[in-house]
Amino acid sequence: MDTGFLSADEVTLPTEAVVDRACWKGEDLQRSTSWQYRLDAADIAELADAVRHVRANGLQIIEVTRRDFPLKRLARTMGDIREEVLNGRGFTLMRGVPIDDYSREDAALIYWGLGAYLGYPVSQNAKGHLLGHVLDLGEKSADVAADKSNINADGVFLSPKQRGYMSAERLSYHTDWADIIGLLCLHPSMTGGESRIVSSIALHNAILERRPDLLRTLYEPYWVDRKGEIPAGARPYFQMPVFHNYQGKLTTYYSGGHMKTIGIYPELPPHTSKQREAMELMDELANSPKFRLEMVLEKGDIQLLNNHVVLHSRTGFTDFPEPEKRRHLLRLWWITPDGRPLTHWFYERYGAGLRGGIYTPGLVENVSLEP
Ligand SMILES: [Fe+2]
Repeated sequence: MDTGFLSADEVTLPTEAVVDRACWKGEDLQRSTSWQYRLDAADIAELADAVRHVRANGLQIIEVTRRDFPLKRLARTMGDIREEVLNGRGFTLMRGVPIDDYSREDAALIYWGLGAYLGYPVSQNAKGHLLGHVLDLGEKSADVAADKSNINADGVFLSPKQRGYMSAERLSYHTDWADIIGLLCLHPSMTGGESRIVSSIALHNAILERRPDLLRTLYEPYWVDRKGEIPAGARPYFQMPVFHNYQGKLTTYYSGGHMKTIGIYPELPPHTSKQREAMELMDELANSPKFRLEMVLEKGDIQLLNNHVVLHSRTGFTDFPEPEKRRHLLRLWWITPDGRPLTHWFYERYGAGLRGGIYTPGLVENVSLEP
């Protein structure tokens, strides 16, 4: 296995804009639907057959592989979508999964089965969840903020374990822990919760043009907090550059939420002023309508992102008062052995030779239909 270790002379800072199909600007795509694929009646019939096939074989979701979820034409379509996500524009929005025709379990099975055509699911947290639930479980940073010991001199919340996806709050632009990441919308919010994505390659090129000095900073490692989810033998934090130009491909890591909480570790140096300035520029550019692409996830939509070339965020939201109508997304993270070449920094972050997922000692992978 290629462990991705590199020598210093392999790390090259580009002097010209990186050319890649995954370099796009939101303003050019916002009014287009070219990045969407709507399931047609034949696709939906194939999904119904595949669900029956799994049920006839008595399989649990966690056992289902591509072979157990047979598709015909839709298999080829999923191959095209996979290629577009991995080597093309870096994202797609599949629309039209008939959620209301299925139980939650069968909707999750359809999502899982389609995902089997993309890669292998990995654990998303220390609980071993392969199927994540993105919804408001009340994990507000305000609760943490009430405890003054959780705020540093910059006014940054220092909750080591808070994970934003279990709240209704705005999430800033970040990457997750896998090659491809997906969200299936079971139910939208009452208001808000728009998904926003941005091409990290477009940000890279913009920073090269505007502030090449800060681009260099973004190629140097930052300290990053693991928020209490620590692989065997690892420390509670790791080091990671934002940009990696490796084997002819640009790959990005970014997560303000994990990078800004390192102040809780007295043994670590604080970020330098250059590092903070570089992150502010990343956030500023990502938030600008020029670069960002906004999509409102509707019931039955599946958003698929190449986590190495797309940053994602979402706006805060308000749920309907009825608990059964609250915003609820199902999340999957997949690794793909043929994904972008990863530098040694990623392998040190994941541990155990993995290229994605969160694996802590004693973890048992599981699929739960409840949050
Ligand atoms: Fe995320």
